[in-house]
Amino acid sequence: MFASIAHRYDLLNRLLSFSIDRYWRRVAVQKLAPFLPEEALVLDLCTGTGDLALKLSSKAQVIGCDFCHPMLVLGQEKVESNQLSGSILFVEGDALQLPFPSHHFDAVTIAFGLRNLEDYHQGLCEMFRVLRPGGSLAVVEFSEPQVPIFRQIYFFYFMQILPRVGQLISGRKGPYSYLSQSVRDFPSPSGLAGMIQQVGFTATSHYSLTGGIVTLHMAKKLNH
Ligand SMILES: C[S@@+](CC[C@H](N)C(=O)[O-])C[C@H]1O[C@@H](n2cnc3c(N)ncnc32)[C@H](O)[C@@H]1O
Repeated sequence: MFASIAHRYDLLNRLLSFSIDRYWRRVAVQKLAPFLPEEALVLDLCTGTGDLALKLSSKAQVIGCDFCHPMLVLGQEKVESNQLSGSILFVEGDALQLPFPSHHFDAVTIAFGLRNLEDYHQGLCEMFRVLRPGGSLAVVEFSEPQVPIFRQIYFFYFMQILPRVGQLISGRKGPYSYLSQSVRDFPSPSGLAGMIQQVGFTATSHYSLTGGIVTLHMAKKLNH
């Protein structure tokens, strides 16, 4: 599914979010930065075309991991045109079975990726495994706004407009209808916070962004 829309992925992100997606990733980097040591190594999971990896590269060495080759090819083009080859490395891999050793990264980030995993719990367990003790997790994911009128406008846009614009520009019907439905099926921010704690993370906190359209979850893996 992601391979089929890769060529239009960045354009549709900008268009469908009115470019607010850039702000969401920027907030994640700002919130994470104080927890990163000097010369930190960060894993950006489900990195796609690497937008979060590129933002993170001003603060750390970054490995971007995704199982969709065409997304990574586009990410690599952006890395090269921004002359960031020394800071970002892309690795093809499955988030449910990461090709990295345990206790390896200072931080793990995942933006708009967790919702797409077949098994959220397994994905979170893998994030926990590859983090070093004391390391940080940042999850950026869609959520549902709660304020009544804003919620109705948002759902009209998200369920009626977004899938149509997505289909028109990507030339594919499925992926952008899937996006709307997958957000509806995803756990609430407090439900996700519970899942994050369940795999062993502590110091969990979450921040509601843009009226609750997106939630940033932060957590720590305790020092032994
Ligand atoms: C909506 S995109 C998010 C991309 C990027 N993080 C961003 O902020 O734009 C979701 C990405 O997750 C990847 N993905 C989904 N399931 C995965 C898995 N099991 N392992 C690795 N990548 C996965 C897809 O290939 C896709 O590139």
